[in-house]
Amino acid sequence: MADVRVVHSVDRRLGGSRLAELVTGAAAGERPGYRALAQAIRALLLDGRVPLHTRLPAERELASALGVSRATVTAAYDLLRDSGFAASRRGASTWTELPEGRRPANVTAFAPGMAGGTADGTLDLAIAAPAAPAAELGDAVAAAAAQLPAHAPTAGYHPYGIPELREAVAERFTRRGLPTLPDQILITTGAQHAISLVLSLLGRPGERVLVENPSYPNALDAIRRAGLRAAPVPVTDAGWDTALIESTLRQAAPRIAYLVPDFQNPTGALMEREQRVRILETARATGTWLLIDETIADIALDVPPPPPFASLAPHGVAEQVVTVGSLSKSHWGGLRIGWVRAGSRLITELAMARVPTDIATPVLEQLVALHLMGGIDEVLRERLPRLRASRDALAAAFTRQLPEWRWQLPPGGLSLWIDLGAPIASSLARAALGHGVRIEGGSRFGADPGTHEHRLRIPFTLAPELYEEAAARLAAALASGPDAADGADPRHGDWVA
Ligand SMILES: Cc1ncc(COP(=O)(O)O)c(C=O)c1O
Repeated sequence: MADVRVVHSVDRRLGGSRLAELVTGAAAGERPGYRALAQAIRALLLDGRVPLHTRLPAERELASALGVSRATVTAAYDLLRDSGFAASRRGASTWTELPEGRRPANVTAFAPGMAGGTADGTLDLAIAAPAAPAAELGDAVAAAAAQLPAHAPTAGYHPYGIPELREAVAERFTRRGLPTLPDQILITTGAQHAISLVLSLLGRPGERVLVENPSYPNALDAIRRAGLRAAPVPVTDAGWDTALIESTLRQAAPRIAYLVPDFQNPTGALMEREQRVRILETARATGTWLLIDETIADIALDVPPPPPFASLAPHGVAEQVVTVGSLSKSHWGGLRIGWVRAGSRLITELAMARVPTDIATPVLEQLVALHLMGGIDEVLRERLPRLRASRDALAAAFTRQLPEWRWQLPPGGLSLWIDLGAPIASSLARAALGHGVRIEGGSRFGADPGTHEHRLRIPFTLAPELYEEAAARLAAALASGPDAADGADPRHGDWVA
């Protein structure tokens, strides 16, 4: 067979000072040795902060920006080349690469029925996503397969989504207190698709988007990729600072505000009704679009499920609220079914805008989703007590075995946002891998690189009985010190959910 290789054009270039800033952010201010430098660059590549096929700075330039010797950078680049994470031509520059066949470790090896347990015995605490409700999924797939022949004589392209599913999603909004018509709904390939679509339709490159800090990393990445500029406002253990949100809306004049008011990822915070009303009023005055991410809204553990944010909108501002959601947390991320709720004119524009990317979401998956929507209350009735038990088991095990760590028990959502008391998250993540546990350091959730190094996000999507073991492994990693896993990959996948 002919040797077919893709020749990539390498037209992006990363400056020495920018890479140094990213690297030292990840290393919490330490001056890295060559192994740590190679690991940091590999980690930045794997989590998308340094794009693939980007020209790395000249060795001398990076050495001077980092305050290390040129030999350190030469050795780090050699290591990256040897492991397939960089390539270069003789006499030319070095660029980022991925080794042949490289796949994200955390999506390859889930044990059946258990999110977060991997085939090699590693506990995966990096992904905040539950496993599918297997029986209900099986039934829905069988029912959808039986219905598919009725769609077969049609072309099967539905840029807005199949009418039955649009109607079911609209009905659920209506039942939750926000009267909605099917033509206000667009079916998307997950909430992530919905977020990217809305950002790129409503925002023009260079415009600002108000974001929570920390926030959901894939939304932050989508904002960067759309050429938009983040205007971060903090979310702390006390929740949102409404006055700061209001002044940012007024002073930074963002085009869009991206908010996750229900069990925010990663903090788990729930925005108060009064805060929602104030934000809606200010957004009306400043003409800012509110992109409200309700992906986690169903995971209400200790409180009644919050009504849709847009249901509080006074007359005249409702059209400015664009809501996204999905079945990923109530059911399963593997379905890739999400939606946008907005004014019908905007829905038409979004449908036209999605055509050049994917034309439409697959009909079979939409039929599966339609059946699952019919039984959503029953699925949640089973799912929520299990998540509550896992959250409480996690909190109890960590209180016993990691008594220095602090957190607020969130009233819902899928994770604890843990304060480690010191900026050690990246080095702890490296050490933890050597002890058979994957964790996600807080910096992945920061709107600015290198921040939130004193935080960890730990999901409670594993079975309750696994948390004693997870805590024991983390305690051992903590005791072994940050250098214990020298040579291990400081990042363990390409993405975070
Ligand atoms: C806040 C938030 N928004 C969006 C998503 C993406 O959801 P989906 O799987 O529906 O694309 C997630 C998934 O973790 C999330 O936590």
